[in-house]
Amino acid sequence: MIRCRGLEKIYEGGKSGWPALRGVSFSIEPGEFVAVTGPSGCGKSTLLNILGLLDEPSGGSYELDGLDAERMSDGERSRARLHRIGFVFQAFHLLNRLSALENVCLPMMYAGETSAGMRHRAHELLARVGLKGKERKTPLELSGGERQRVAIARALANSPKLLLADEPTGNLDSASSREIMDILFDLGRGGMTVIMVTHDRELAARAGRDIRMRDGRIESLQGGEK
Ligand SMILES: Nc1ncnc2c1ncn2[C@@H]1O[C@H](COP(=O)(O)OP(=O)(O)O)[C@@H](O)[C@H]1O
Ligand SMILES: [Mg+2]
Repeated sequence: MIRCRGLEKIYEGGKSGWPALRGVSFSIEPGEFVAVTGPSGCGKSTLLNILGLLDEPSGGSYELDGLDAERMSDGERSRARLHRIGFVFQAFHLLNRLSALENVCLPMMYAGETSAGMRHRAHELLARVGLKGKERKTPLELSGGERQRVAIARALANSPKLLLADEPTGNLDSASSREIMDILFDLGRGGMTVIMVTHDRELAARAGRDIRMRDGRIESLQGGEK
């Protein structure tokens, strides 16, 4: 599913830039549930953004589903982001002027789905994350946990094979965190490949694998070293 070799990322700034990733290599098989952990600033979000084709590495290689990211055109990258990858962020990133239903419809609209088709699927997805009856509420009328459920439903809209979550419970109380994690672990059991950045050691321990980072490098890596 994912194969990284010697990934480097240098952010511009200062005299020689800031090296956020300094040679990161690992592979992830389809259906794995992987936690990425490590101290703040060690490069976790940088790595996730590269895996999600939101950012490009300064060096090294990245293959997603056998496709070499470096050879992908801008159009291929945005199509892959739309169809192959779902994102969940700590700060939800929902559109507050749209209803929960409309937020979930958005990626399907970009994918050219019909209006009836996308509304039907959005209803299904919102029911699946426990938001039946709240489809018309806007994010500002929902709790943090509910907003993150909407974000998960939106991430699933175009049936991605890979779900990337960057500290998805970072803004939530412990009860909501547990509920969100149950949804993510359920998706994992259903065959979804999930890569989740977390500070929470306990959550990391529940994942199939924990990739630990430190100072832009991998400190330890269970499995998948091929
Ligand atoms: N856009 C950016 N420009 C410059 N430096 C950045 C940028 N994004 C992140 N960094 C730096 O890169 C390092 C890794 O950041 P990040 O990947 O966000 O870490 P983490 O998610 O593990 O907390 C940090 O030192 C951070 O300050
Ligand atoms: Mg981060």
